[in-house]
Amino acid sequence: MKEFLWVEKYRPQKIEDCILPKTLKNTFNEIIKGGELPNMMFTGTAGVGKTTVARALCNELGLDNIVVNGSEDGNIDTLRGKIKQFASTVSLQGGYKVVILDEADYLNPQSTQPALRGFIEEFSSNCRFILTCNFKNRIIEPLHSRCSLYDFNVGTTELKTQLKLDFMKRVWDILDKEEIKYENVVLAELIHKHFPDWRRVLNELQRYGMSGNIDAGILVTVSEENVKKLMSYLKDKDFKGMRKWVTENMDLESAKLFRMIYDNMKTYVEPRSIPALVVILADYSYKDSFMADHELNVVACLTEVMSQVKFV
Ligand SMILES: Nc1ncnc2c1ncn2[C@@H]1O[C@H](COP(=O)(O)OP(=O)(O)OP(=O)(O)O)[C@@H](O)[C@H]1O
Ligand SMILES: [Mg+2]
Repeated sequence: MKEFLWVEKYRPQKIEDCILPKTLKNTFNEIIKGGELPNMMFTGTAGVGKTTVARALCNELGLDNIVVNGSEDGNIDTLRGKIKQFASTVSLQGGYKVVILDEADYLNPQSTQPALRGFIEEFSSNCRFILTCNFKNRIIEPLHSRCSLYDFNVGTTELKTQLKLDFMKRVWDILDKEEIKYENVVLAELIHKHFPDWRRVLNELQRYGMSGNIDAGILVTVSEENVKKLMSYLKDKDFKGMRKWVTENMDLESAKLFRMIYDNMKTYVEPRSIPALVVILADYSYKDSFMADHELNVVACLTEVMSQVKFV
């Protein structure tokens, strides 16, 4: 099937094609050379390539794998059923199998995570586990001790610049293939703006690229125009409009969305309503880390904003 979404169409199949800090890339290349996959935990912010790397590793090592999603299949029985069914059949490729457990930090630390500890042992004869998470401190210690940790977050400015350059080259390639014209300054700005969320960069490019040309407009549409629209829905208490806006903008992380409202409140909100708005935003940002359904949390937050906050 031909992929429509660029994030899938251009998902790197090999470690070589992943944009990663050199040391991390070397580590993964060593693993491929050695031919042995340990139990691993990948941590890092959204869209940096954790799931992509997990799949690429299995791909290159020729290992059967299954991707299980912690926020969707978080129920202990579902999870167990899926893993068991996958693990108990013999691998067609011969070797052991790999369970990629995506978004493991959304698994309940009181029930599901402790149970997972048991699974890792129970299936250890023919299964390896790769856990991915955004927040490593939400994973219980016994799981940490069973996996080696690989941190995808990059620290130094130097490294960041290198990664941005690497990604820029990748984007040139993609845009050329898609026959879309672009301005380099604009690309650089866009990459800088969303770094290190590569998923976001590709999604923005695809959305804006429909017009056939990436120009400075892309930098505006992703922010100001959109904020304005949302604020007018909130002001008019237009629930339907607000919900539609949220579905269309779910590639925006909730944390960024809350921050965006916070940064813009002076322009749109009556001064005496600002304290109430701050409290609401803080409250829902906190809740967001415990909710599996971020869309629902965002809509709940905006609904409360509509009822408590006065707009100018
Ligand atoms: N390091 C990378 N090199 C090249 N492309 C990347 C990289 N990281 C992400 N991408 C692009 O972004 C898409 C999403 O990446 P991926 O699903 O691996 O992110 P993730 O780190 O698992 O994010 P999440 O925490 O949201 O699950 C990929 O399909 C790919 O197109
Ligand atoms: Mg992922």
